[in-house]
Amino acid sequence: MCAITLQPQRFGKFEVAKRRNNQNNQHNQDIMTKKIAIIGGGNLGTAIAEGLMNSGFIHPEHIIITKRNISTLKHLEVKGVMISNNNVEAVEYADWIIVAVKPFQVREILISLKPHLNPRRHVIVNVMTGVWIKDIQDIIGNDFTLFRAMPNTAIAIQESITCICKYSASEEQVSYVADMFNQLGKTVFIEEKLMDAATVLGACGTAYAMRYIRANIQGGIEIGFDAATASLIAAQTVKGAAELLLQKHTHPEQEIDKVTTPKGCTIAGLNEMEHQGFSSSLIKGVVTSYKKIVNDM
Ligand SMILES: NC(=O)c1ccc[n+]([C@@H]2O[C@H](COP(=O)([O-])OP(=O)(O)OC[C@H]3O[C@@H](n4cnc5c(N)ncnc54)[C@H](OP(=O)(O)O)[C@@H]3O)[C@@H](O)[C@H]2O)c1
Repeated sequence: MCAITLQPQRFGKFEVAKRRNNQNNQHNQDIMTKKIAIIGGGNLGTAIAEGLMNSGFIHPEHIIITKRNISTLKHLEVKGVMISNNNVEAVEYADWIIVAVKPFQVREILISLKPHLNPRRHVIVNVMTGVWIKDIQDIIGNDFTLFRAMPNTAIAIQESITCICKYSASEEQVSYVADMFNQLGKTVFIEEKLMDAATVLGACGTAYAMRYIRANIQGGIEIGFDAATASLIAAQTVKGAAELLLQKHTHPEQEIDKVTTPKGCTIAGLNEMEHQGFSSSLIKGVVTSYKKIVNDM
């Protein structure tokens, strides 16, 4: 009888890299073979479909998108996406169901889909403002893995911040949903109790930023620029400022320090803005939006 000693397997650098590549390829293949249904092909639904397709995250033919009047979805059909006015057909085709209709439409739609939904197969992603995980569970039951995601309108150019919360999700499902929304901008996972706050900071935030830019344009015109040039300078300046924070992970005040020369024009302008209540009015605006959303929902 000969004893066999099991040696720990050792792989050369090349073999390790090859195995890692194979694992990554397998992971990518798994991702690429998942099928997504988007119920509600309006502004948000089509932006999601286009972003996922353009990024190469999914084959167009693995997306099915629905609405009642499908004539507005022809541009997606041309690219290979399946379009349908039949929600049942969509959930029977797909594993991941993104619900992107108006909140008042969701109850009726989910009631009609309930007999065709299977908690062992389907994962539901709710992107509707103000629709809670519990609201969905009240309609289809507690057995499903659910995600609630709050993107903003920059999802149309794949630059959203999408706040996401989860219910009963595996690590793999969390990672898939993060991968999906990372194609459409950046993502952050939060607790659902922060969803209203996320709506204010992330979604209403686009409007606040637009007002800030608009005010700069108005100021720019008063000091000599035509409207188009002022718009370009104001928008690109804000984009650059945001990128500085995102790429360098600095605090805004550190970047401000770099621009403010002692006795200079920047600090004089900034201080005047603060005397006029700049930061205070922004904070009050954020809190007012938040109170409104909490009281109205
Ligand atoms: N737009 C954004 O950037 C954004 C950001 C965050 C959250 N949201 C949320 O996303 C949801 C959709 O917003 P939206 O701006 O995309 O609205 P939207 O453009 O009105 O899209 C909703 C779509 O649902 C379709 N629809 C209505 N009934 C349907 C049914 N029975 N079956 C299938 N589709 C149906 C409508 O098309 P038909 O009338 O042809 O059926 C419509 O195209 C809202 O709940 C909103 O709060 C949007």
